[in-house]
Amino acid sequence: MLETRYFTYNEIHKTLCDSAQKILNSKFNPDYIVAIGAGGFIPARILRTYLKVPIITVTIAYYDHDKKKGKVPAKQQWLDTVDISNKKILVVDEVDDSRITLEYTVKALLEENPSELSIYVLHNKLREKEGCFPDSVKHVFVGENFENSWFCYPWDATDIDLHKEKTQ
Ligand code: G4P
Ligand code: MG
Repeated sequence: MLETRYFTYNEIHKTLCDSAQKILNSKFNPDYIVAIGAGGFIPARILRTYLKVPIITVTIAYYDHDKKKGKVPAKQQWLDTVDISNKKILVVDEVDDSRITLEYTVKALLEENPSELSIYVLHNKLREKEGCFPDSVKHVFVGENFENSWFCYPWDATDIDLHKEKTQ
């Protein structure tokens, strides 16, 4: 059984504050944050407080491909009216787990010809990855690394008081 970790909004905010300083220090100045929904939405919004650039959203869903391949990621909602060609983008998600969704999303975003693409994940699981990032990715910023475990986020809680109790 995987260990379960509960995170508070405060912890997450502080990790994002530290991460934003690292991103700013790297001199990678994105034109847009691209948040991968739904997990990336709240981290992206907090990062925006520090990076001060607009957020664009994309959402990926899983569809049954066939019996052999099982479920595969596909675009559910994409860039809409925003043209990211020749723009620097920072792709934001809450967790780097198998990396399958991230690889699919990053490759699809690169097809839109951004001038530079970097990735930010709030939490990375130190485990063998099934997906990989293309070489053209400029930076992979990680908020915090953890041994493989199951992360419980406050935005998924139906009872936020109970969630908070579990973090203590
Ligand atoms: P990855 O590329 O980011 O590693 O994602 P992967 O395909 O491995 O994960 C499939 C879904 O499982 C993703 O959600 C991911 O956010 C979620 N997930 C993976 N590990 C954890 C975890 O420890 N805790 C929680 N709460 N979720 C986890 P998704 O399909 O994109 O859904 P959502 O973002 O709309 O929630
Ligand atoms: Mg997600």
